[in-house]
Amino acid sequence: MADLKITVDGLTLPNPFVIGSGPPGTNANVIGKAFDEGWGAVIAKTISLDASKVINVAPRYARMRATDSREVLGWENIELISDRPFDVWEEEFKKIKDTYPDRVLIASVMEEYREDAWKEIIERCQACGVDAFELNFSCPHGLPERRMGSAMGQRTEILEEVCGWVNSVATVPVWAKMTPNITHIVDPGRGALRAGCEGVSAINTILSVMGVNLETLRPEPTVEGYTVPGGYSCKAVRPIALRMVMELATMMYGGGNGAPISSNGEPPIKGEFLNCSLSAIGGIETGDDAAQFLLMGANTVQVCTGVMIHGYKMIHTLNEQLGAFMEKHGFNSIEDFRGQSLRYFTTHADLVKRQAAVKAAERAARDGMVTKDTAWEGEKFVEQSSRLVANQDD
Ligand SMILES: Cc1cc2nc3c(=O)[nH]c(=O)nc-3n(C[C@H](O)[C@H](O)[C@H](O)COP(=O)(O)O)c2cc1C
Repeated sequence: MADLKITVDGLTLPNPFVIGSGPPGTNANVIGKAFDEGWGAVIAKTISLDASKVINVAPRYARMRATDSREVLGWENIELISDRPFDVWEEEFKKIKDTYPDRVLIASVMEEYREDAWKEIIERCQACGVDAFELNFSCPHGLPERRMGSAMGQRTEILEEVCGWVNSVATVPVWAKMTPNITHIVDPGRGALRAGCEGVSAINTILSVMGVNLETLRPEPTVEGYTVPGGYSCKAVRPIALRMVMELATMMYGGGNGAPISSNGEPPIKGEFLNCSLSAIGGIETGDDAAQFLLMGANTVQVCTGVMIHGYKMIHTLNEQLGAFMEKHGFNSIEDFRGQSLRYFTTHADLVKRQAAVKAAERAARDGMVTKDTAWEGEKFVEQSSRLVANQDD
């Protein structure tokens, strides 16, 4: 029987499925529901010290559906971080930890570029008993106007400095959540780990415009006739998330046996942060989706939009599907297969070389040419010798 239990940064989770920061972890009530249903861990909705500056609008979501099946493929949101007061969150963190002392509760935090603010939020959450932190360097809308979220995450030197402040006071593991709205996600990832974070999470939402209403000519979601670009999530972002997780994992754990994609043909990349952790996010809705991210090197997988579509009970199906995948392959634990697919990334030049070698071998076999000494046969010896002659007209 496959064992889904994992240990990451010293924390033990019954399974690798984590509620990603957002509406599914937005108060003590729903966090309790997630634990009751069996989620591996919960990352609460992102909080800051002064919630009075956070003012949400409605509507703030827009969905992309498949034309025929009406299945939700993409989801845009212009939601901000939590608008609930910090002292209410302190009480709720304490209450959740009192009720669920053995379950992993992760606080997601975001602050302005001020050392005292970051240190204060970490110390106050820590005093409530949270098990770990996720630093939100990645919210793409609204907060960058206050130079928070992705505005910080896009500048490695600022992110690294902030991670340094946090790690100077944090006594529990710290993950830094990366923005995908950047050309090289590896740069801030490396900065966070260099500054002492135990892990990185990726990805947050992708900056997007869902569409334009062709009756009103207004882009969606429309608030009093206007909008802002929002964050895109759900199934549609999964391939991009997989690529970014692969790039981070290659930097952290190394490139396996092939010449990894980001090496420009150089020898395989050496892992720079072998003992750090990786939490994958982006379009995960099934156990098979999760298995793909784990094969890319992730320790945990987060689900946010999926819970908004399917509800908290989806954890039972996720566990069953991941367990079935593991049993099919004879994997007893997540560590048995974590990161196994990284070795199959290489350069395009190497793909061309590999394909040419296979074609040459096929051609030689078709022409009856001996390419290995074991292929010589007594009966065909003379014919085989003659096929190897360079100029067949001699
Ligand atoms: C409505 C909504 C609100 C979100 N709020 C937050 C947030 O407060 N903090 C955060 O770090 N990420 C937030 N996210 C991003 C998710 O945690 C996640 O990184 C992203 O949606 C991709 O994963 P998914 O496809 O499973 O949703 C939010 C996403 C959605 C859809």
